[in-house]
Amino acid sequence: MNNDIEKVLYSAEDIQKTIGKLADQLSEEYKDKDPLILCVLTGAVLFTVDLIEKMDIMAQMDFIDVSTYFGGTATTGQLKLIHDMTADVKGRNVLITEDIVDSGRTLQYLVNLLKERGAKSVKTVSLLNKPEGREFDVNVEYYGYKVPNEFLVGYGLDYKGYYRNLPYVGILKPSVYSED
Ligand code: IMP
Ligand code: MG
Repeated sequence: MNNDIEKVLYSAEDIQKTIGKLADQLSEEYKDKDPLILCVLTGAVLFTVDLIEKMDIMAQMDFIDVSTYFGGTATTGQLKLIHDMTADVKGRNVLITEDIVDSGRTLQYLVNLLKERGAKSVKTVSLLNKPEGREFDVNVEYYGYKVPNEFLVGYGLDYKGYYRNLPYVGILKPSVYSED
């Protein structure tokens, strides 16, 4: 698996330090707000777990699965609600946790959905932010790293469902795609 990586962008250690800083900021912001932390499956699971573990405030957690990428390297442009959350968001301060915001399509859909359902506030924390990929006007209030316009894998990010379990984030070798 490691041999398929061209370059490591963020080491496991670096990522954990960055998450620690985000957790401190978010704990301060949400300490009296009883936040509902909404993890976007599947990519954001690793990030969300490490983040909430470092936040020492009362908070609840839920999951939602919206997908735009169906296992490849380019967005299909389609969006599907695959698995809905269970909590009632009415009047809640929702914090969406994402692995990466690229075009912003997923995030725009989620923010609209949560607002329609009556959330009191909706903010987003994403480990990675790829602003060059942006096609939709969305706010990413908190993020760990601004990343180049490359296809990344690791720490939750996948290529065809694989590489999520790498503890770091890296660029996949182009030879891996051309084998398809
Ligand atoms: P968006 O809707 O275009 O912003 O895409 C968001 C989703 O696409 C993320 O939650 C990821 O699951 C996936 N994605 C975007 N860029 C990458 C990447 O470089 N590697 C792996 N997955 C990505
Ligand atoms: Mg995702």
